[in-house]
Amino acid sequence: MELIPLSPAQHQALAVLQRQLRQWNSHCNLTRLVDGDDYWVAQVQDSLWPLSRMNPPFRGPLRGVDVGTGGGIPGLVLAIALPESRWVLVDSVQRKCAAVQAMASGLGLQARVEVVCERAESLGRDAQYRGRFDVAVARGVAPAPVAAEYLAPLLGSGGLALLYRGRWSTADHRALQQAARQLGCRIRASEHCLLPANRGQRHVLILEAEMPCPAPYPRAVGVPARRPLATASSSSPPTPDMALRGTRRHNPSVALCCNYPGGFGPYSFAWS
Ligand SMILES: C[S@@+](CC[C@H](N)C(=O)[O-])C[C@H]1O[C@@H](n2cnc3c(N)ncnc32)[C@H](O)[C@@H]1O
Repeated sequence: MELIPLSPAQHQALAVLQRQLRQWNSHCNLTRLVDGDDYWVAQVQDSLWPLSRMNPPFRGPLRGVDVGTGGGIPGLVLAIALPESRWVLVDSVQRKCAAVQAMASGLGLQARVEVVCERAESLGRDAQYRGRFDVAVARGVAPAPVAAEYLAPLLGSGGLALLYRGRWSTADHRALQQAARQLGCRIRASEHCLLPANRGQRHVLILEAEMPCPAPYPRAVGVPARRPLATASSSSPPTPDMALRGTRRHNPSVALCCNYPGGFGPYSFAWS
């Protein structure tokens, strides 16, 4: 059993986030998981359990990005849990971005959280964001090889991408390995946990950027999902529309890609 302590103030902030999610749900459908264990386990704990597996632990002023943040999960939860971190929360749907922006402001996180309404494929080609992050996370956004193509270009050198999944098979692992290689990453670790309250098993795949992501990635909007790297023909070179110009040297970083939440006591989270 692993415990990650949260201060009373952090716990209070998570309770405020729960209220905000309920309120915003009445305007726009953000998530069904806002009550009881649905929120505290399937959202909060699922967002946080991978932190207990990081070695060295995430500390200090790291810069993170949550791609496909939806209703702000896991990005807002991570911003609360890691009080010195700064986050960019990205989604392509304007109404979700507006809700997440309002929730971040309501939590007093506006100085540390920026919300960007953009496709991941475009963000990864924008010099303002490419290669700039220490941590990149994505939960429930796309199959792992697709999510890896969204996250890897955002990582600085040595950065980590954490892909949080539900079930995970040997075939999934092989496909991700193939995609990671093309993106200049390696799979550093695969971790799993059993969430309480019958929420089932979760996995997190940790990718490490070994070199700047090759210029052709991410490919044009829609291409990563239509032709996932692990299944696309690796013998054919990228077409000109996929080519990326002006990539930058990466700074040391970490990226997380999340998929699901876990149980906890008053101010701590417990993992099996
Ligand atoms: C199933 S929701 C998951 C939301 C949240 N991460 C969670 O775990 O609750 C997937 C989100 O990813 C966003 N998304 C999917 N593909 C995207 C892309 N290529 N760029 C930006 N956002 C994307 C969708 O708009 C949606 O809000």
